[in-house]
Amino acid sequence: MIKKYRFGDPFETEAVVENIQAEHGEPKFGETSIDNGFSFSYMMDEDEIVYGLGEANRGINKRGYRYVSDCSDDPNHTEDKVSLYGAHNFIIVSGKTPFGVFFDYPARMTFDIGYTKSALLKVSCEYADLYVYVIEGENAYDIVKQFRKIIGRSYIPPRFAFGFGQSRWGYKTKEDFVKVLRGYRDHHIPLDMIYMDIDYMQDYKDFTVNEENFPDFAEFVRKMKEEGVRLIPIIDAGVKIEKGYSVYEEGVQKGYFCKREDGSDFAAAVWPGYTHFPDVLNKEAREWFGSHYRFLIDQGIEGFWNDMNEPAIFYSREGMDELKSYIKEYVQETEDVSPWELGDRVRNLANSPEDYKRFYHCVNGKMIRHDRVHNLYGYNMTRAAGEAFEKIAPDKRILMFSRSSYIGMHRYGGIWTGDNKSWWDHLLLNIKMMPSLNMCGFLYSGADLGGFGADATRDLVLRWLAFGVFTPLMRNHAATGTREQEAYQFEDTDDFRGIIETRYRLIPYLYDTFIKAAENNDMYFKPLAFEYPDDTFAAGVEDQLMIGQEIMIAPVYTQNAKGRYVYLPEEMTLVKFTRDNHYTREKLAKGHHYIEVSLAEVPVFIRKGKTIPIVKVAECVEKLDTEHVEYQGCDN
Ligand code: GLC
Repeated sequence: MIKKYRFGDPFETEAVVENIQAEHGEPKFGETSIDNGFSFSYMMDEDEIVYGLGEANRGINKRGYRYVSDCSDDPNHTEDKVSLYGAHNFIIVSGKTPFGVFFDYPARMTFDIGYTKSALLKVSCEYADLYVYVIEGENAYDIVKQFRKIIGRSYIPPRFAFGFGQSRWGYKTKEDFVKVLRGYRDHHIPLDMIYMDIDYMQDYKDFTVNEENFPDFAEFVRKMKEEGVRLIPIIDAGVKIEKGYSVYEEGVQKGYFCKREDGSDFAAAVWPGYTHFPDVLNKEAREWFGSHYRFLIDQGIEGFWNDMNEPAIFYSREGMDELKSYIKEYVQETEDVSPWELGDRVRNLANSPEDYKRFYHCVNGKMIRHDRVHNLYGYNMTRAAGEAFEKIAPDKRILMFSRSSYIGMHRYGGIWTGDNKSWWDHLLLNIKMMPSLNMCGFLYSGADLGGFGADATRDLVLRWLAFGVFTPLMRNHAATGTREQEAYQFEDTDDFRGIIETRYRLIPYLYDTFIKAAENNDMYFKPLAFEYPDDTFAAGVEDQLMIGQEIMIAPVYTQNAKGRYVYLPEEMTLVKFTRDNHYTREKLAKGHHYIEVSLAEVPVFIRKGKTIPIVKVAECVEKLDTEHVEYQGCDN
């Protein structure tokens, strides 16, 4: 049962697609207040678990910390960080009387879940203008499915997008891409995609290709595809300010960029230097921006990743001027100067909340200050692409995922979880985040495997890939300047081959499971408690996940570990995929077990009475032979 409540004058985010009439009165659970902004307070029982929040820090159970929905470009997301790249305001309180709440509010919103007071759940925001949806159901899983139904079907990518992809910020020329292709093919490691980061463009201009480095781009795209590899270019939010650059000229002339209060186009520096932001909240501007993806689709491109769309701002003109005058004063000062303050001022120049108050969107003829709708930018940039794809290639699935997102965007694309680090902690965070993302509709998702920032180690990359075998988006991506982490860069590549091959052997099963989850508003990844609601031990397990109806996974995520403890809520068959297309199997009883897992192995637990199809490996998805399936399951 779903009830909708309206407070004040909400912005229509279009996160929910089902037409639900707003109720009068107060939600049944908790207390709401509209004095001093909006707040929702609820006293939690000791045993209640709070799920949800999608792309958020910390555990599957969100209790005991606070989280702020405020799409942020922050690669250094240590445990204390409260905002990540996405904003997904859906929570489920799971206890005696379970309920879910979706706060459809596109600006900054705080979820204090037992942080200030251990029993108090308090959700608050500055303006009391929002819709609140309250969902009652049998249990948390049922509530998620009801919620997913009202927000519409999740994006389904093309089949090749379930292959393995290699990425690195720094591949510049045709030769760089061919080198990656050869690295994989010569080592017989499957590969379906190579991602093109900003260097493929001419001076970081969207919808351009550097002609010197790619003299005949369409031909190059075709040749790579013949080798079984798709090139997947990045598109950034900011459009470079440059006389004569057609996208810029057109946007200015049509008035499609975000504007300052005085009507001039707002300028913010990102990778290309100063840029304008397309006003993707304005329907016409969105259509216009989306139409430009055709430039690359016409050259054979079948997938994209949308980046810097919080939108990230290195600095605005105004912010830079303010900093310069501050530094001038600072230099003239002789006493009492604090280097910390100077450092903070410089650091805070990027992604400053002040800048988000400096520009406006034009929605249905009304000017709306960006900070009031901040969390919708990435959503609408991706929507621009998704809506355009329906026109440009109506019969084709185009791969699309975004860095920033809000609920609603899940209908147009997937997400990657932004810039992480080559840290074991971020592997664990990746594991815990996946089911929460599914609760909020984001099924096609994954993290930068091996870690984006910092230097990766061989064992970390192997363990992370072994988890990545199961994430719908399986992509190894790294930042420029970090240690090279393509699978063929390390000693004994057979181990890497074994792991990536396991993905390919499972692709028919994983893709099928994914499609079923999308079509039934179901989850691909689930916490154990969703499948075993009466098992009190399972409720506390956060480092094992259920996939579909058939399997459970328990990834190894610690350095030097030779294996790990696993909890089995029922009897299962442990199948360990090993190098050279082998696997071992062993029936294990319900309960706790220590299992050994070498760096080259991928363990899968198959539930009692279930089977999963396994196919022969191929170098890319198109070459998989799905006719001849070898069945693997439990022995009874
Ligand atoms: C951002 C993206 C990252 C990309 C880089 C350069 O940091 O999150 O994935 O490599 O920009 O485009």
